[in-house]
Amino acid sequence: MKVLAFNGSPRRGGNTETLLSAVAKGVELAGGEIEIIRLADLTISPCLSCGGCDKTGICVLKDDMGELYEKIGRARRIILASPIYFYGVTAHAKAFVDRAQALWSKKNLLKKKGQWCEDPDRLGFFVSVAATKGEKIFDGAVLTAKYFYDALGVSYGGAFLVKGVDKRGEMEKAEEKIREAEEFGRRITG
Ligand SMILES: Cc1cc2nc3c(=O)[nH]c(=O)nc-3n(C[C@H](O)[C@H](O)[C@H](O)COP(=O)(O)O)c2cc1C
Repeated sequence: MKVLAFNGSPRRGGNTETLLSAVAKGVELAGGEIEIIRLADLTISPCLSCGGCDKTGICVLKDDMGELYEKIGRARRIILASPIYFYGVTAHAKAFVDRAQALWSKKNLLKKKGQWCEDPDRLGFFVSVAATKGEKIFDGAVLTAKYFYDALGVSYGGAFLVKGVDKRGEMEKAEEKIREAEEFGRRITG
């Protein structure tokens, strides 16, 4: 099982990266493979709402997202990871999610032609950290992740969320959460 993970945090050695590494360890312990893509290292322009993909299912913008469309199309397990920024995902993650509009258009075009076949074995997950501990801190971002996967035609498989981590290095100290994240990685690989 190959897992494709997108890290929307721009902070190197940050809390999302640490949490995702623990998930990756679990994936590998379960015999899977994981590829982690740092969205901040790529050029992903925001969606222009030009309507170009409505008729073709293909985005008019030519940047690093082109390769990601192909990788997403092949993946059976996907992770979207992002720290919480203002009750949502980071700008890097949001630009990536918005560009999935082309995949939503593609799915609908195929549906109209009767050529869309949902694959129930394709699952998508959300991994996130936040500094504060508010009850609704992840609500907005989880909804974004769910509708991102809906656009892809991928079933939402759940989330691994950690509250109360802020400064770089705080995630590493939350040893129990790191263990749980490894377990989460094992589970999603099965
Ligand atoms: C621009 C910005 C906005 C943030 N907004 C929130 C927020 O609304 N709620 C919250 O709990 N934490 C917020 N945080 C804190 C981050 O979620 C927290 O520091 C997290 O651990 C960073 O993860 P990282 O190290 O992977 O980047 C914000 C941080 C930044 C830089």
